[in-house]
Amino acid sequence: MTSDVRTVEWTGDGLRLLDQTLLPGRVEYLVARDVDTLVDAIRRLVVRGAPALGVAGAFGVAIAVRQAAREGWDDAALDAAIARVREARPTAVNLSAGVERVLPFAAEGADAVAAEAQALLDEDVRGNRAIGALGADWILGRAGDRPLRVLTHCNAGALATAGWGTALGVVRELHARGRVELVYADETRPLLQGARLTAWELDRSGIPCVVQADGAAPSTILRGLADVAVIGADRVAANGDTANKIGSVGVALACAAAGVPFVVAAPWSTVDLAVPDGGGIPIEERAEEEILTWAGVKTVPDGVGGHNPAFDVTPAHLVTALVTETGVLEVSAGVTPRHADRPS
Ligand code: MRU
Repeated sequence: MTSDVRTVEWTGDGLRLLDQTLLPGRVEYLVARDVDTLVDAIRRLVVRGAPALGVAGAFGVAIAVRQAAREGWDDAALDAAIARVREARPTAVNLSAGVERVLPFAAEGADAVAAEAQALLDEDVRGNRAIGALGADWILGRAGDRPLRVLTHCNAGALATAGWGTALGVVRELHARGRVELVYADETRPLLQGARLTAWELDRSGIPCVVQADGAAPSTILRGLADVAVIGADRVAANGDTANKIGSVGVALACAAAGVPFVVAAPWSTVDLAVPDGGGIPIEERAEEEILTWAGVKTVPDGVGGHNPAFDVTPAHLVTALVTETGVLEVSAGVTPRHADRPS
């Protein structure tokens, strides 16, 4: 596991973030002590992944409360700063949920907010362990005795959470049980979370993996080279429609065509029962430069624009199972979050 690096850590006066834009080449940290720095870090994906964004958002309120005291803000200025944290990225519901969770503590001061944010962080790690165990149980219950070839997309690992990971938590648990033959990590254009981050995590953990182009994933699945696909989620609607990194839908369609389970691993906090279906999930549109350039070099003719949605929505009927810390919902068989008990 990535036990020697901490994605998100409260220092007492700021939030220490492992700068994921620099991986795998450099392991460097950025400390956000003001709202501008944190919002910029979230937008640039210094910190990213739905659960990690939830934790960053919660600590972001502590940063705002400290800054308000330091700089003499009135209530309106503090509210506006907190809103900027909440809205820094739109798709992962965890970000706004993390902010909302700690808001009742704001009147007690930054330390009380930070204590609640720390509770969220600790819960996330515990939840990921449970997701890993439940997901591995479910997969192995259908897999027979053979070693498994697992396909994953983007990064839903320790780097995307407070620790251990959701989809990669399942992979880590399968590996601990001696059942992983190989992980196919989709490179995840345009920001390469799979190539840079998932491969880094798996390699450090001694889990065999290869990186493939996103366009290779459907073919890998149709050729029978993957036994299961496991991905994370940024928001799951009440009917089970699942928003995740752009390219997830292609993986799901290929899995459905090949009869391969498509498993979504996410904490219950990623489920948004207020959104009935995927049509209500806001999809982040990022700057076209991310598509029009490669390593800073323009790759597209002048005058041609880019289309850069950061997420897509996989329809519920393509989601074989949703693994949360409270259990497994067999979504394509009709068991959706809407029909599940909210955990206590
Ligand atoms: O744009 P990113 O890197 O924040 O996107 C992350 C993903 O899509 C993850 O798969 C998702 O947040 C789940 S993380 C456990």
